[in-house]
Amino acid sequence: MTTLSTIPSQLNVGLMGLGVVGTGVASILLNKQESLAGVTGRPVNLKKVLVRDLTRPRVIDLPDDLLTTNAEDILADPDIHILVEVMGGVDPAESYMKQGLAAGKHVVTANKEVMAKSGPELLALARKNEASLLFEASVGGGIPIVGCLMNELAANDVISIRGIINGTTNYILTAMAQHGTSFQQALGEAQSHGYAEADPTNDIEGIDAAYKLTILASLAYRSRFQPDDVYREGISKLEPQDFQYAQELGFAIKSLAIANLEEGAVQLRVYPALLPTEHMLAKVDGVYNAVEIDGSLCGQVLFHGMGAGREPTTSAVVGDLIEAARKMGAQHASPLYINEGTTNVPVRSIDDLESRYYIRLAVADRPGVLAKIAKVLGDGQISIASVLQKDVHPETESAELVITTHPAKEAPVQKALQAIAGLEEVRRVSNTLRIEE
Ligand code: NAP
Ligand code: HSE
Repeated sequence: MTTLSTIPSQLNVGLMGLGVVGTGVASILLNKQESLAGVTGRPVNLKKVLVRDLTRPRVIDLPDDLLTTNAEDILADPDIHILVEVMGGVDPAESYMKQGLAAGKHVVTANKEVMAKSGPELLALARKNEASLLFEASVGGGIPIVGCLMNELAANDVISIRGIINGTTNYILTAMAQHGTSFQQALGEAQSHGYAEADPTNDIEGIDAAYKLTILASLAYRSRFQPDDVYREGISKLEPQDFQYAQELGFAIKSLAIANLEEGAVQLRVYPALLPTEHMLAKVDGVYNAVEIDGSLCGQVLFHGMGAGREPTTSAVVGDLIEAARKMGAQHASPLYINEGTTNVPVRSIDDLESRYYIRLAVADRPGVLAKIAKVLGDGQISIASVLQKDVHPETESAELVITTHPAKEAPVQKALQAIAGLEEVRRVSNTLRIEE
């Protein structure tokens, strides 16, 4: 534990992980020493770097004795004051973070999975050991959103959070919408830029965004949420037609992460949705992320910036490292950011959502089909806003129907969709997307 009397004259850093992010962090630690010493008040020294494979070629030149495959070289070294975890995954990253905190080391992490699943326990451990646990890079890459929710916006009651918080999916959706790129090609490009998670399913299926939303909501509502509290849909069901029709109807398709407080409960959801093209979030393209916070005092505040990639993430990690260094010796326990018990703000079911919907159906091109579908929707009190009939295929006598609705409740819409799927004339309910205003 570092106290005022034991502040070291030099700060030693143990870096765990030398991949996309770790390489960026190592590069700053090695090449910006003067600047780091200036902002932290003392030299900052990269003492050890943990990797899995010593033989793997690296894009950065490091002194030979810096690399290790033995975590104890960092965890058991009392002269390492700050542990930077950029390995990813839960095991062994979480146990290393715990060991580091228990030993009084300050921990900086970019690990959204660990913070979403175990953030409150880790923060409690940090407070107990008077250590800092900082995780700005876990959400939004280079966007300073975590620190703002913990500090600058802390006076607000947060009404809602709405954002694009996965760079990989936003990159894919932008490439598909603007350049007609195939899903697979766009994903490959995102991976080659270093945006995607080790398992890109986490990006595509909204798992990564659900982790990030869990972190943001836990901070905003000072409650404990879990990734399973987030209703989640990925982007893999989207087809090129959805982009064409959305555009025709005046919408962009974006994967949104939303938390909103209504009647004392928080609804948490991640899914691709239609957004009016003039909406600010509809203009956020490529690897860019944006988060809109609606606060009781600040009103709507929009954060925008690069949400993934080496440099933006390095910015957040090194920023946290500087903060940890500046706090050393301050002799106060880390503040309580999240309720460390169980959830105290209830979670609202997706069934209670009220939204407009976009429904794309493949149907038999025969008289009376539309009337049957309209009747099912009408029986469920779902009002149709517009209908487009597209792509008639004379050879198969099939047509594509694109229906948008006025606001309706999720549960009756899902029930109606099941009934529509069962109609003899309906060949496929191809896609259903919510429309955000
Ligand atoms: P990455 O490129 O896959 O790098 C992972 C690094 O950790 C590699 O150097 C690997 O060693 C090392 N590693 C993994 N497991 C290990 C183990 N059990 N023991 C020792 N070393 C191990 O990952 P990344 O993209 O840098 O992401 C790292 C973390 O940052 C993740 O939590 C990710 O979610 C988060 N993040 C990433 C981005 C981004 O844009 N990439 C943005 C924000 C947050 P080897 O090199 O020897 O294989
Ligand atoms: N895979 C993540 C993304 C990295 O694409 O947003 C940044 O957290």
